[in-house]
Amino acid sequence: MPGRLSGKVAIVSGCSSGIGQSIAVRLASEGASIVVDYRSNPDGASDTLHQIEAAGSKAIVLKADVSRLEDTQNLVEQAWQQLGSCDILVNNAGIEKGADFWDVTEQDFDAVLNVNLKGAFFLTQAFVRRLREAKRPGRIINISSVHEEMAFPHFSTYCASKGAMRMLTRNLAVELGPLGITINNIAPGAIATPINASLLEDKPKLDALLRNIPLGRLGNSNEVASVAAFLASEEAAYITGSTYVIDGGLMVNYHEQ
Ligand code: BGC
Repeated sequence: MPGRLSGKVAIVSGCSSGIGQSIAVRLASEGASIVVDYRSNPDGASDTLHQIEAAGSKAIVLKADVSRLEDTQNLVEQAWQQLGSCDILVNNAGIEKGADFWDVTEQDFDAVLNVNLKGAFFLTQAFVRRLREAKRPGRIINISSVHEEMAFPHFSTYCASKGAMRMLTRNLAVELGPLGITINNIAPGAIATPINASLLEDKPKLDALLRNIPLGRLGNSNEVASVAAFLASEEAAYITGSTYVIDGGLMVNYHEQ
């Protein structure tokens, strides 16, 4: 549906690869201008930029570490200054670090929580403050995970961050509703992206995972992007505080044997 987002400006955090890149390109192909945020992969960010331009839209590329408050404020500031507004925020930046619970280091705890939770929290705060001043409505889409709900042994920091994101979304749906700002989560299951590169190379582990997925395959990031585009569009105007699961049936799967 071209044009569903024309005239809108969207920030997509962490969009130099994976789900974030697909979302940025998809929102652009529906007419939005994009703030391309990356932290450590400038080549990926310029690839995202080229794909956005090829889709006929415009973008600015900014290096920002969402775990730093000033960086989140700058992303919002630059969107308004260079693109004239900021209507849509996609909190996509996320990392995971596997370890048995008893071995988790303070450094890894901080790394995961600072990006996945603190980053989304304060980027959302900067986004909301600006919209509130301008008395404009907005859309927030958080890329959470099936693990906002479902256990993921050996990834306790990741689960803690995504579980918190689930409650943050519910809480903000209530606080931001009167401002005309909606907030929803997308909870992807196993999607083939760089975040699970090591799993994709481990055939026995991958096969075990696939046996848990009723649709029998991994998802791809474009399938996640289409849900994000819907949530960003007018068609989702009455949806807030929800989580959209996209996991091939993983979360509800149960079978004996
Ligand atoms: C994680 C992946 C994992 C998937 C399904 C995602 O949130 O990032 O590493 O494979 O959930 O468990």
